[in-house]
Amino acid sequence: MATLTMEVEATQSRNRQLHIWVAQIAQLCKPDRVYWCSGSPDEYQAMLRLMIQSGVAIPLNPAKRPDSVLVRSDPGDVARVEDRTFICSQNKADAGPTNNWEDPAAMKARLSELYSGSMAGRTMYVIPYSMGPIGSPIANIGVEVTDSAYVVANMHLMARVGANVLAALGDDGEFVRGLHSLGAPLSPNQQDSTWPCNAEHKYICHFPETREVWSYGSGYGGNALLGKKCHALRIASVQARDEGWLAEHMLILKLINPSGQVKYLTGAFPSACGKTNLAMLIPTIPGWKVETIGDDIAWMKFGADGRLYAINPEYGFFGVAPGTGVKSNPNAMLTVAKKSIFTNCAMTPDGDIWWEGMTEEKPTELVDWLRRPWAPDSGRRAAHPNARFTTPAGQCPVIAAEWEDPKGVPIDAILFGGRRAGIVPLVTESFNWQHGTFLGATASSETTAASAGKVGQLRRDPMAMLPFCGYHMGDYFAHYLKVGERSTASKLPKIFYVNWFRQDEHGKFLWPGYGENSRVLKWIFERCDGKAHATDTAIGRLPEPADLDTAGLNIPPANLAKLLSVDVQGWLEEVPRIRDHFAKFGDRMPKGLQDEVSALEQRLKAAKK
Ligand code: GTP
Ligand code: SPV
Ligand code: MN
Repeated sequence: MATLTMEVEATQSRNRQLHIWVAQIAQLCKPDRVYWCSGSPDEYQAMLRLMIQSGVAIPLNPAKRPDSVLVRSDPGDVARVEDRTFICSQNKADAGPTNNWEDPAAMKARLSELYSGSMAGRTMYVIPYSMGPIGSPIANIGVEVTDSAYVVANMHLMARVGANVLAALGDDGEFVRGLHSLGAPLSPNQQDSTWPCNAEHKYICHFPETREVWSYGSGYGGNALLGKKCHALRIASVQARDEGWLAEHMLILKLINPSGQVKYLTGAFPSACGKTNLAMLIPTIPGWKVETIGDDIAWMKFGADGRLYAINPEYGFFGVAPGTGVKSNPNAMLTVAKKSIFTNCAMTPDGDIWWEGMTEEKPTELVDWLRRPWAPDSGRRAAHPNARFTTPAGQCPVIAAEWEDPKGVPIDAILFGGRRAGIVPLVTESFNWQHGTFLGATASSETTAASAGKVGQLRRDPMAMLPFCGYHMGDYFAHYLKVGERSTASKLPKIFYVNWFRQDEHGKFLWPGYGENSRVLKWIFERCDGKAHATDTAIGRLPEPADLDTAGLNIPPANLAKLLSVDVQGWLEEVPRIRDHFAKFGDRMPKGLQDEVSALEQRLKAAKK
């Protein structure tokens, strides 16, 4: 630890509030030592070495995957835990019907007992981080205290970390306080486990009024890397409501047409529903280009010109591994070619990683994510369905030059979407901001392995924020409508709804997806310029098959017709379900969206005649 101790001196902050808070946590959690992270490359290497020495990580073959490690988690700690996630606002009503709630004082009392001595035998790391380019007017500083070296290493890749952040914080700057403990204290001479966590107790708790996160018992992803979902979405959504901006579960992409004109799009799809893939897709239509700004989270604020400007608050990608391959997402494969952390992937005999969908042909021999020998006829998956890679965004070959621009990029279009086998067309343009908000508010999707629980269950996931909105969802809808009133229609992003996941009666995807989604992006781009043709229907504006560029696309015309048609009867059956969904939000449900349900019903009835 000699080099680590030296870093401590270099990064001392004079922020009194920070010191008081860190001292309090140290007193409660009783770590063996406290280490302030500098964010240096040496520190990153030291974390990897610690993980390798303790058996948490395996170094990958440097000839195959330089500077990278594989980590296998505990089988009980593989995804976000929505039923253990709490919004502890002062008033229960402010958390709303979609969040678990507990009184903040009661929750803190309960957790304090769990935290008491929970870091014994371990190092407590203090990680100052910035969500967003340091010093950007849209960025926000947080400090995470954790007893996990895996978290420190991941935070190095996922956020801007260390001494520069402390400098920006200054002597009296405000910061989001994140406390994380694995809940796995070590007694003297106790052998550490390869994935310490707490099997009995897991809590992911947010205190929105005091801008705090208390996370206990899990070391995985969004449960433990507190800058991501906990800060940048659950806490930030509350800040955004209070301050008049948007903190959203959205990718940000730059779309360039053959004449070099640019539009910036954001897209909110639920977890494991295609954000990373869309953010870095390679268009199949000649002359078009996509560049990446972000793949998971967008913070958007109004500029002086009345337009919404977005930054990606993150510094890396924590992406779904399975399904990512040279064919489906070559840019992601190039991004993870080096300096990456792989979690719950399988390992090849020559010391590289593998997962389902990486290559067309399966390897003949692997060690699976549960460390067992695996062969193609094993009859089980080699990688966990929520296996992930952590990788620096700067390594993405199509990262946009302006991805770290502190003022953000002006957004032309917002896409909402989900994973729906039936009814929902490939793309729908909203009539206006209120109708677009309605499309987002009624978004529904089949659940995925990104969260613990059943996969494939259809549920409403408004704006892909169901698990991430830090306050009452009815108020969140009202906030969206208010944002729309802050500017003029011509300056606001146009809102679209997309569905790449429509299936035929045999469960086969009707749309090829991935790079072919560029055909839909092109239509959206040209709609923003008022150029491409669209037809008004009961549910919104749709392209007709001839309006989409399908040159070179091998798709049966009947499939395309189905993807772009409105199933009036099916939609009429959706109406009461939408009413039930909205009824949950009681009197916090804004009238504007209630009006949209009636208007939709009217249009559908008229279309049926
Ligand atoms: P989170 O990181 O959990 O928020 O997920 P995400 O929204 O970034 O999803 P991602 O792009 O990682 O995709 C998740 C899964 O959906 C992967 O297995 C992809 O291969 C698959 N997928 C992505 N885009 C498409 C598409 O256009 N069509 C189909 N059929 N599958 C897709
Ligand atoms: C998601 O579930 O939406 C993710 C992964 O992006 S996690 O960081 O674990 O939340
Ligand atoms: Mn996500």
